[in-house]
Amino acid sequence: MTAFSAQFGPLELFPEEDMTKGAIEVYHVANVSLEGEQLDEDDPRVVYQRNNGRWHTDSSYRYIPSLASIMYGIEVLPHNAEGGETGFSNMLLAYERLPKEMKAKLMHLHQVHSYGEIRRLEPSIPPMSDHERNALPPVTHPVIRVHSDRDYQRSLYFTSNTSLEIGGLTHEEGKELHGWLVDYVSNPDFCYFHRWRQNDLVMWDNRVLLHRAMEYDLTKYRRVLRRTTVAGDVPVMGPYWPEALAVTSRA
Ligand SMILES: [Fe+2]
Repeated sequence: MTAFSAQFGPLELFPEEDMTKGAIEVYHVANVSLEGEQLDEDDPRVVYQRNNGRWHTDSSYRYIPSLASIMYGIEVLPHNAEGGETGFSNMLLAYERLPKEMKAKLMHLHQVHSYGEIRRLEPSIPPMSDHERNALPPVTHPVIRVHSDRDYQRSLYFTSNTSLEIGGLTHEEGKELHGWLVDYVSNPDFCYFHRWRQNDLVMWDNRVLLHRAMEYDLTKYRRVLRRTTVAGDVPVMGPYWPEALAVTSRA
């Protein structure tokens, strides 16, 4: 899987020590330990994944977030089981359909993306180690992302699984804006929900899609997926960057 993934670019390594990792480039997305034992639903490894039930984009807590994720289905739910899909929402379309006043409101905003702040959303996740804290300080990214490889098209870029803080807003205002955005991007017009079959390989572009893990009965079913992450190569460009402002045709 790493050899296949590396054809698309260098892979991210995981300095995170939360025990969800399989190998250093492979993320173990499962309610089953690496030794094959089904985990309790309160196990931090499972809680960490429950947090990924919130709309997010992978590795947004890095200064240069990832380009793409590649996920492979090893053990999947039976076809008649409820839930367990991976949902995707199209942020290019979501931006395009935003009300004009919301585009103006978001224009200059940045969100705080923080691996450490995940603990505020899921307090039972163990504290970060010094190594993790040094490797992954909080970062901010523009809420509107501009894509130089797409003729400077814009997309929404935010996450609900690392923090709810928006620069320039109070925590309460940030939470309220997040709530609005989460409802907005859940519009079925923007979404696709993938139901996993064994040996499915799903690849997605983290720059322009949000995704989330839909709930399933963790006590009844086992599931094992593995993920690799192709590293990004540019920081997130905001609409007020000189390069973006030079292109006046997009709004
Ligand atoms: Fe994810």
